[in-house]
Amino acid sequence: MDQIENKDLEENKLKKFFFKEKSNHLIHKWSNYFDIYDKHFNKFIGKNPIILEIGVFKGGSIDMWNYYFDNNCTIYAIDINEECLKLQKDFGDNVHIIIGDQNDDNFWNKFLEKNINFDIIIDDGSHVPKHQIRTLKKMYNYLKNGGIYLCEDICTSYSSDSKTSFVEFCKSLIDNLNIYHTPDHNNTDKTVLKAIDFKKKTFSLTFYDNVVVIDKLFNERSYEIKKIINNDDNTFEIKELKKKLH
Ligand SMILES: C[S@@+](CC[C@H](N)C(=O)[O-])C[C@H]1O[C@@H](n2cnc3c(N)ncnc32)[C@H](O)[C@@H]1O
Repeated sequence: MDQIENKDLEENKLKKFFFKEKSNHLIHKWSNYFDIYDKHFNKFIGKNPIILEIGVFKGGSIDMWNYYFDNNCTIYAIDINEECLKLQKDFGDNVHIIIGDQNDDNFWNKFLEKNINFDIIIDDGSHVPKHQIRTLKKMYNYLKNGGIYLCEDICTSYSSDSKTSFVEFCKSLIDNLNIYHTPDHNNTDKTVLKAIDFKKKTFSLTFYDNVVVIDKLFNERSYEIKKIINNDDNTFEIKELKKKLH
């Protein structure tokens, strides 16, 4: 393990939790995850975020989110293993442990009857690429505008068939994000419309070592702008070069 500097612990509350605090439940993470979480989740501190986390295991990450958000968060924690229900008594009213299979649309449909939209969705469940794809496809619509979707342990994509690889699926989302820059964007076929829909809801996809983060934010078509400087009288003018809305 690299030496953890005191500065790191002060700057990143999640590292402080992991490396310094005694916690009640086992937690198992990759060392680079704390910086990624903090970079994307920091904006929700003090905002009472609603979190969906797939994968409870021994309950360690629930402790971590409670610590990070000062118990000022609501956590829906999903796991396929019924044993996880026994952990419910260890947590307060803000935590809801629910048994279900992330690869089962019927489970999600029933769960979605709760009518909740999330600020943060974390997929730390089976890590099976096919399940990661299904979960993203199913749950992205239930992430709020301004929300963060984070899928961890995408390493499994590198030992799977490329047709079912989560990373390959996310690469296709990069193309969706850039749909307006392609010659296809005026087509009205289903694939293009789906790509446009994704683009309009999505600000960015960020690829890290073993993690993908999607920043969901209303993102209408971008257009080129120019700032033209008039050196004679020190004024300037903003000119839109192209603004075609689909
Ligand atoms: C890596 S552990 C979660 C660790 C936890 N988030 C933490 O950081 O402490 C993965 C969990 O996903 C659960 N799991 C496996 N397959 C699943 C599925 N299809 N649906 C939901 N949960 C699943 C496992 O039972 C296991 O508890």
